[in-house]
Amino acid sequence: MKVLVTGGAGYIGSHTCVELLNAGHEVVVVDNLCNSSPGVVERIEFLSGRQLSFHPADVRDLSALDQLLNLHAIDAIIHFAGVKAVAESVVNPAKYYSNNVRGSLTLFEAAARHGIRRLVFSSSATVYGNNQDSPLREHLPRQPDNAYGRGKCMVEEYLTDLSRADPSWHAVILRYFNPVGAHPSGLMGEAPLGAPNNLMPIVCQVADGQRPELAIFGDDYPTADGTAIRDYIHVLDLARGHVDALQAALGNEPGLIFNLGTGQGTSVRELVATFEQVNGVSVPCRIAGRRVGDAAVSYAEVTLAHERLSWRASLSLEDMCRDAWRWQQQNPQGYSRKPLPDLQGHGIADIGIPAHST
Ligand SMILES: NC(=O)c1ccc[n+]([C@@H]2O[C@H](COP(=O)([O-])OP(=O)(O)OC[C@H]3O[C@@H](n4cnc5c(N)ncnc54)[C@H](O)[C@@H]3O)[C@@H](O)[C@H]2O)c1
Repeated sequence: MKVLVTGGAGYIGSHTCVELLNAGHEVVVVDNLCNSSPGVVERIEFLSGRQLSFHPADVRDLSALDQLLNLHAIDAIIHFAGVKAVAESVVNPAKYYSNNVRGSLTLFEAAARHGIRRLVFSSSATVYGNNQDSPLREHLPRQPDNAYGRGKCMVEEYLTDLSRADPSWHAVILRYFNPVGAHPSGLMGEAPLGAPNNLMPIVCQVADGQRPELAIFGDDYPTADGTAIRDYIHVLDLARGHVDALQAALGNEPGLIFNLGTGQGTSVRELVATFEQVNGVSVPCRIAGRRVGDAAVSYAEVTLAHERLSWRASLSLEDMCRDAWRWQQQNPQGYSRKPLPDLQGHGIADIGIPAHST
């Protein structure tokens, strides 16, 4: 298939592009680079040994999308492009509704004009809100607590309505839990522009000495060690879930929604202890107060994705911590000008990528 990947230069999108190319698909990326670097494109091509077509554009720009879709006969779309900082969405909701809701609606309009009705959409566990008991099942009501989550809900509902009104639409909605880790080669990982918002990049920066300590938000939650529990999933497992979801989008079932997580909860202290142990580093921590709006416990029920997509996360917390640290050590400033390894006629396998990447 020829797949349009919006936000393909970003963290999850870049790993998914490698997996799509490895699976034999053609890839076209559209990304406005508001939270990513153009340097990721050559890494994707290097890791897959194949080329992709990159278009720097905004998904809110209908005429740019029209031009792009005139150029490429796209079979299906994976829609990652969006902004994702929950706290920022509370203070700047307009940015979130514009990028994530208007961007999605514009993309779907362009897709429909060009006869493309197969789509995989990046949603989030945030749609469940903070007041429902884990494991979180797909049929639970949507109860988002912030503008980011409400935007994701709106797009989910819009896609569900589109599929109901016109059965030729086949949308698969994926709700991610907490993606962490990096490509095991150390060549691709999470490289946000500006200060990171997620736990793992901050843990890496503390271990690397770029920050003095990790602030743990709350150690008085009703959990075994008092810190909040989340469902961390390796970004490579997540990327592979998209390749499987793409197959589901080829089927005829409307409105499919799947959680993508491991189904295992891990506390902040457990994650830090595992990171320190597998990497032989120290991550100094300080207890800060709870953050408003944080759930104590959030992890996925993952049976549906296993039954319907034959997908299951296979990489461990140790893999996530090891790969995140390798990426951090090899790329302390993200996608800077670091040259790629010279393969000199050898294959990618010869640069020492750990076995779980294949
Ligand atoms: N990382 C997470 O923790 C997480 C969890 C749940 C859901 N998600 C969702 O997954 C998707 C990808 O997340 P990510 O972690 O890879 O984020 P990311 O910021 O690394 O990637 C998003 C990409 O989209 C691009 N982009 C943003 N707005 C755009 C626009 N209007 N037009 C074109 N490109 C645009 C950015 O430049 C970036 O490359 C997002 O939709 C996010 O909401 C992420």
